Amino acid sequence: MVLLIPAAGMGTRLGLDVPKAFVPLAGSTLLERSVVAAWDSGVIDQIVVIVPDDQVDATGALLPSVTVVAGGAERSDSVRAGLAAADPAADLILVHDAARALTPPSLFGDVVAALRSGAPAVVPGLPVADTLKRVDDAGLVRATPDRSELRAVQTPQGFTAALLRRAHAGAGDATDDAGLVESLGVDVRVVPGDEMAFKITTPFDLTVAQRLCAAGEADI
Ligand code: CTP
Ligand code: MG
Repeated sequence: MVLLIPAAGMGTRLGLDVPKAFVPLAGSTLLERSVVAAWDSGVIDQIVVIVPDDQVDATGALLPSVTVVAGGAERSDSVRAGLAAADPAADLILVHDAARALTPPSLFGDVVAALRSGAPAVVPGLPVADTLKRVDDAGLVRATPDRSELRAVQTPQGFTAALLRRAHAGAGDATDDAGLVESLGVDVRVVPGDEMAFKITTPFDLTVAQRLCAAGEADI
């Protein structure tokens, strides 16, 4: 089982002066926490971390247990770079955002269990609490999708290796890997997500994460 951890983003919305994966959270960077959670799950054999060009050497020195490669301009470019460094014999591959730094190890196990039961593509998802609207460029509401059908999708996402490689063989871009797999017409199974797997995107999210750590709520 290979895990790819895309960590090459700049963290523009977080707005700090280091790439987001290298931001410290209660003493460990977001990337370090994601790596520890993944190894703790006990279901991963190889971790490939994808980082900005100028962080490759430092990351390799800091995290000797992982393979480190340079990422690209878009998240999907980074995943493609990670795929090129993944063990070619692996039959299953997970992809997990470094930014979901408080993801519990058990969620990796849940995704792997669904893959092993025969699903070719698996994502964790949670019901959405807000009512969501489709809005046009003029700021007018065009639709209110039925919330009961919607899920907020997280990572780790899991795929058969052949399927993930096929999904990334084109030049397509999507905000998650399942999006590329869906466009191939393959069914993606949803398993229950975990609130602790939220993505740290904004300063508000980082504050929430810091407070969860201070309150002893984080597994990692
Ligand atoms: N990512 C990546 N390569 C990119 C862009 C994103 O590896 N070119 C990674 C990020 O490092 C992050 C994950 O994909 O772990 C999810 O992306 P996001 O939360 O959007 O992170 P950033 O792109 O860094 O943030 P922003 O969009 O605010 O700049
Ligand atoms: Mg981004």
